[in-house]
Amino acid sequence: MIYLDSAATSLLKPACVRQAVIAAMSTAASPGRGSHPAAERAAEICYDCRETLARLFNVKNPENIVFTTNATHGLNIAINTQIKAGRRVLISGWEHNAVTRPLHALGAETLVADTPLFDTEAFLDCFARKLKQADSAVLCHVSNVFGCVLPLEECAALCRESGKPLTIDASQSAGALDIDFEALGADFIAMPGHKGLMGPQGTGVLICKNSAEPLMYGGTGSNSRSSEMPDFLPDRLEAGTHNVPGIAGLAASAAFLLKLGLPEVRRREAALMETFCCELQGADGVTLFRGEPQAAVLSMLPHGADVNLVGEKLGKAGIAVRAGLHCAPLAHSTAGTLVTGTVRFSFSSLLSPAEAAKAARITKAVVSSCV
Ligand code: ALA
Repeated sequence: MIYLDSAATSLLKPACVRQAVIAAMSTAASPGRGSHPAAERAAEICYDCRETLARLFNVKNPENIVFTTNATHGLNIAINTQIKAGRRVLISGWEHNAVTRPLHALGAETLVADTPLFDTEAFLDCFARKLKQADSAVLCHVSNVFGCVLPLEECAALCRESGKPLTIDASQSAGALDIDFEALGADFIAMPGHKGLMGPQGTGVLICKNSAEPLMYGGTGSNSRSSEMPDFLPDRLEAGTHNVPGIAGLAASAAFLLKLGLPEVRRREAALMETFCCELQGADGVTLFRGEPQAAVLSMLPHGADVNLVGEKLGKAGIAVRAGLHCAPLAHSTAGTLVTGTVRFSFSSLLSPAEAAKAARITKAVVSSCV
């Protein structure tokens, strides 16, 4: 199988991730729950992971890095802390249901910066204008459907200047694009550990500027006499036993990325997407959504063919993609593809150029067999 579904989760992972998970399963217990060597090993793993992530995202205090189960979990904590019912929240037209559903559940009023795809200038103008009417903002860095990169630094500066809290959804950028937490000054950055960071599924990270309201209450191994959750991070947001094997895998993958360097990740991903698009050139009746700046996420609209059928046939032909609405109806509505959906190809830096080229040739054949 050629795996082109890295925007959903990373299947291709460096070998060190698997090794770290397996080693943790037989050596590490629960951090802060005992003074025996296995509990101490678990605490070391968690601290090492926080420290490595702090270097990757320039976070001064590693204890402001909270482990979650995925990006959705982190976004729920952030949104529940930041936004109260009836407040006005500015979001982009590219948000995932992980942002829009918690906002809806809270009864927040949303203002949407929904400008045309890949038009950064229009987006920034719209964001600046609508921010004036909003109490706070929640913004994805990269669309999970179209890969368009939003002008995060500029939007964060506008939020800082106007004193409006900002939560960033870095689900599709963490592990590839540069994210400097201290420079951005955002209140929260939520990300999965299992996509671009190449850690195991079941891992996620929430970087917090200050404290936050817990979503879950329970044991933390600290302040045990109190019926309240501790008021300090990360304990306040980490009730219950940690996913130590997952965190060990995430520590290994984050260290791998630090060593490789994010510019090299981006160079490889861009080259793979370019190879794929060049090979696909001349395919009859498809629209490829390309633009600048774009991360390694590419949507395709086959004219006159059902995207789910194309996705299914690609799967049978050994090409793993995701077709449909990608849990992001708002993004499809903004781009005008809500009725059809799209077929999405997303590229890992661990793929080979030959695999990208082969996938494009198979895609061409599958699309022509569907129309
Ligand atoms: N949000 C993930 C995706 O885009 C699951 O596929």
